[in-house]
Amino acid sequence: MTTRIPATLIPGDGIGPEIVDATLAVLDALEAPFDWDWQIAGLEGVRVAGDPLPPATLASIHRTRLALKGPLETPSGGGYRSSNVRLREEFQLYANLRPARTIIPGGRYDGVDLVVVRENVEGLYMGYEHFIKIGEDPHAVAIATGVNTRAGSTRLLEFAFEHAIVTGRRLVTIVHKANIMKALTGIFLETAQQLHARKYHGRIDMDTVIIDACAMKLVLDPGQFDVLVTTNLFGDILSDLVAGLVGGLGLAPGANIGTDAAIFEAVHGSAPDITGKGVANPTALLLAAALMLEQCKLGDKAARLRKAIDATLNIDKLRTGDLGGSSTTQAYTKALVARIRNL
Ligand code: NAI
Repeated sequence: MTTRIPATLIPGDGIGPEIVDATLAVLDALEAPFDWDWQIAGLEGVRVAGDPLPPATLASIHRTRLALKGPLETPSGGGYRSSNVRLREEFQLYANLRPARTIIPGGRYDGVDLVVVRENVEGLYMGYEHFIKIGEDPHAVAIATGVNTRAGSTRLLEFAFEHAIVTGRRLVTIVHKANIMKALTGIFLETAQQLHARKYHGRIDMDTVIIDACAMKLVLDPGQFDVLVTTNLFGDILSDLVAGLVGGLGLAPGANIGTDAAIFEAVHGSAPDITGKGVANPTALLLAAALMLEQCKLGDKAARLRKAIDATLNIDKLRTGDLGGSSTTQAYTKALVARIRNL
């Protein structure tokens, strides 16, 4: 008998419930052995429990250590603090994994198969920011402090090297700006070089590239990269850049992996402009579910899911509006389930 796997499910805001429904239908067809504990967060958390990250949701993830989540709405400027950032801090989700693979051939680039591994809790995103008032101008000077630590860099780099080896990758590229930010990103580069020499030399190749050159090289020829590993801010930007190389947000999954839990999600947000219209593309969340299956050592089911997605998009030619098609979420999901049953 298959062992059941307890996991937290957060449908989230906007199109979240629509794409979560589609994902559950597909996971059912795959007979994925998850026992879901349904929880709320984001705007739905505020509406129902008066908290964008209610204690019951945190308790559930502490118990299961595994979650699949839809997008959570965060008001810009004021309002509450991002539940996504709070989740990263609470569960020390220090590694953000963003694979980008060509699924629909014939786009701007073919055969892209990259992974960005982003440090998720340190760097310039720690929120140590303030203004200094001069004369009548309260915002005359803005100051931000970034923090990268040897320990934080080491655990992220170890994760990246191990992930590259286990998944049969050929090259790890360290992306930095140590020529200018000699301490803040220098520590990351130095740690990578020392760690590679000590533990990974001969097991996986490593090279280094400066962030601005990396952005240009990615656009000229993404095929020259394999696994890109970098600090928080650069990783945030690069992972959206690589999503753009392979057809946009509707196809981009993400995994947040840490010492205390792993949380899987689509890269995109709650898409308020198309909410409730039945046209959202569930593929990004489905690909996140494939990463979750792999994390649970169910790689065969993940492979079936990816094959079914390929076939539905490229043979059945069922595509949602964001991919230039006219399929509804429901019709796409139905075709995907049929593909899974026939694989
Ligand atoms: P968004 O990603 O929600 O939407 C950007 C554009 O992409 C929109 O035109 C939308 O219709 C389209 N789109 C996104 N996902 C799609 C899908 N699956 N199928 C078809 N089209 C799709 O970004 P936006 O509008 O900037 O943010 C909306 C809200 O989402 C904000 O409150 C933001 O804070 C939140 N957000 C949450 C994230 C998370 O929970 N991980 C990530 C990014 C944004």
